[in-house]
Order: sequence, then structure tokens, then C-alpha cells
Amino acid sequence: MFLVLLGAPGAGKGTQASFISQHLGLTHIASGDLFRQAVEKGTKLGQSVKAYMDKGMLVPDEVTIQVVSERLSEPDCREGCVFDGFPRTLGQAKALDKALANQGKAIDKAMYIEVAEEELLKRLSGRWICRQCQVPYHEITSPPRTPGECDKCGGELYQRSDDTVETVKERLKVYFAQTTPLLDYYEAEGKLIRVDGGLGIERVAEEIIGVLKPK
Ligand code: AP5
Ligand code: MG
Ligand code: ZN
Repeated sequence: MFLVLLGAPGAGKGTQASFISQHLGLTHIASGDLFRQAVEKGTKLGQSVKAYMDKGMLVPDEVTIQVVSERLSEPDCREGCVFDGFPRTLGQAKALDKALANQGKAIDKAMYIEVAEEELLKRLSGRWICRQCQVPYHEITSPPRTPGECDKCGGELYQRSDDTVETVKERLKVYFAQTTPLLDYYEAEGKLIRVDGGLGIERVAEEIIGVLKPK
């Protein structure tokens, strides 16, 4: 099964992708995580994407498609995966369809996690991420058992440098301009499923799993 998670910054793509990946045994591919790891390691890729991320702008399609395609070609993606934060432009969506079609595969569903804008700001300002396994926490709605420490792997929690008020505003602007056209794209393909992302984390997860599990 190949799934795409769509939604604004802070909608809960990472949270739900990590849940889906555990429950359905699908590999989780998060373009943002791949870029952040490259920045952390100081690789050439990291140096080239950092300025875009700090400004809340999209990394150019060429680079993004290359990085995600490489990840998709690894053996753990053969049976499927859940894409989080990719595709984000029509160019990326078409490139992904093409890459999968070359292997006789296709996207099964695109889940759109819908959340009101003022809720997104609250979520991002209280978010903490695990440096090792990238799982997101929230200081109010989903705090870790031990402050500053990941429940799953014991890794250190940190706040993303692009979660400042100004950068979040820019990320939202970019999302509405460049990513929302994907809703029509997947709707036209009959693959779009809307999920109420304003509910609690478990409720949203139940909705998603309910749609995905064979009846
Ligand atoms: P990326 O890392 O993808 O960030 P984003 O899309 O802005 O989304 P976020 O990760 O901020 O939000 P999320 O939906 O994952 O929410 P989360 O689950 O953490 O991209 C970062 C940057 O990389 C981009 O700006 C761009 O520069 C570059 N980039 C990445 N992909 C790219 C691409 N394809 N093309 C070009 N450039 C690209 O949840 C947020 C918070 O809310 C957490 O604290 C969580 O605990 C809490 N929460 C989650 N769900 C709920 C709930 N149901 N109720 C209450 N709280 C909740
Ligand atoms: Mg995320
Ligand atoms: Zn962790």
C-alpha cells in the first residue's frame, strides 16, 4: 500500500504517519526528516536545503524528487510506504506517480488531515521532536513521560528552528499557494480521503486506520 498524507504544517502528518507505520508495518518517508538529517550531518545536501527551510520556503522540486526517489528505491519500500510532507507541488505529485508506475505500482490513497489555522499555530509553538527517531510531542496535548526525553527511544527532544511565529506564517502561505492544488489532483484521481484532524490524536488515528483496514 502506498499512502500520501496531506495537510498544512502542524496538521499532524508526522504524528499519524508514525502511527500508521507502526500499525500497518509501512515504511515512513518524511521529506522534511530526510532534509533535517542532512542538515544535522552537515552534508552537501544539508547545506543546499538549509536556507530554504529556515525561510519556510520549499526546497526546489529537482532536489526534493531526487532525495525522495532515492529513499523510495530502498528495499524496505517495496511493499509500500507512507509519504509525509511529500508530494507538495503538482510537479512532485506527477513525478511520484511516474516513479511508481515504472514499477507497476500506484498511490492507493491520499489522506487529507484537515485542521483549522489557529489550531495549527498552537500545535507548532508547543511542539518538541525527538532528535533520534523524529517522533513529535506537544508540551500540552502529548507530553513525553519524562520531560525532554523521547518515550520510544530515550532520545533528546528539541524544538525545530522553523517553528518560530514568522517562519510558520511563511510555511502556511507557501502551503496554501503551492500544496493545496494537490487536493484537486488526488480528488480527480478518486484517491482523496478527508479526515477531521481537529480531533484528538487517537481519534484521528482511529479514523485513518478505519479507512485503511480491509472491512
Ligand atoms: P516538514 O518537516 O514536512 O514540515 P511541515 O509540512 O511544515 O509539517 P510539520 O512537520 O510542521 O507538521 P506535521 O503535519 O508533521 O505535524 P506534527 O505531526 O509534527 O517540512 C519542513 C521544511 O522542509 C519545509 O518548510 C520545506 O522547506 C522542506 N520540505 C519538506 N518537504 C518538502 C517537499 N516535499 N518539497 C519541498 N520542500 C520540502 O504535529 C504538530 C504538533 O501537533 C505536535 O506537537 C503534535 O504532538 C501535535 N498534534 C498532532 N496531532 C494532534 C492532534 N490530533 N491533536 C492535538 N495535537 C496534535
Ligand atoms: Mg512533520
Ligand atoms: Zn525517539
